[in-house]
Amino acid sequence: MNTLASLKTLATSTLIVSIFALTACGDSPDSTTTSANEDSTNNINPVEARQATMHDLNDAMGVMDNMVKNPAKFDAITFKKEAAFLAETSEKSWEYFDNQSAGVGGATEAVWNDKEGFATQIEMFKAVSAGLNDVAQNAHNVDDVKTAFAAVGAGCQSCHSIYKAE
Ligand code: HEC
Repeated sequence: MNTLASLKTLATSTLIVSIFALTACGDSPDSTTTSANEDSTNNINPVEARQATMHDLNDAMGVMDNMVKNPAKFDAITFKKEAAFLAETSEKSWEYFDNQSAGVGGATEAVWNDKEGFATQIEMFKAVSAGLNDVAQNAHNVDDVKTAFAAVGAGCQSCHSIYKAE
């Protein structure tokens, strides 16, 4: 079984679904409005920028997780918007990890010692995020999205288990 397939299998177990609930973030619940890497000052701190992006991902996951846990609250338009945000962010937000000399932050040294493994995690995350965005576009209820959503949660956790400290 390849890694992506095993990630998807892992995602179908219920273990993973609430990891984002464990990491409370202080910023706006509307994940699409602000982001430190869109800072107009041109004075971007890479560690802060990538952490802000992670908070935005976390917020988007929180909004969707709330619907997955409360199917009666499913709102197709909001879910679609958050899934699109995740897919888009998964494609473009990794350059702030490039330069270790900018600071290790809450990452592990493995981000820079094992660049290939980190890149593999990014690719898997892009794939599962695109998968969720695909199903979200035509989703009518939680059943339409929950497997793909769990795969994204597994993607967050899979990367964090190696590349995020704690
Ligand atoms: C490819 C690897 C990878 C993926 C995928 C990933 N993360 Fe992260 N995440 C990290 C790393 C590395 C850090 C530590 C960054 C730092 O502090 O410099 C981090 C940090 C975080 C933080 C803490 C930010 C802070 O302020 O310290 C949160 C919250 C977070 N991630 C949420 C998520 C969520 C939710 C997902 C999935 C939707 C996700 N991450 C996907 C690698 C990843």
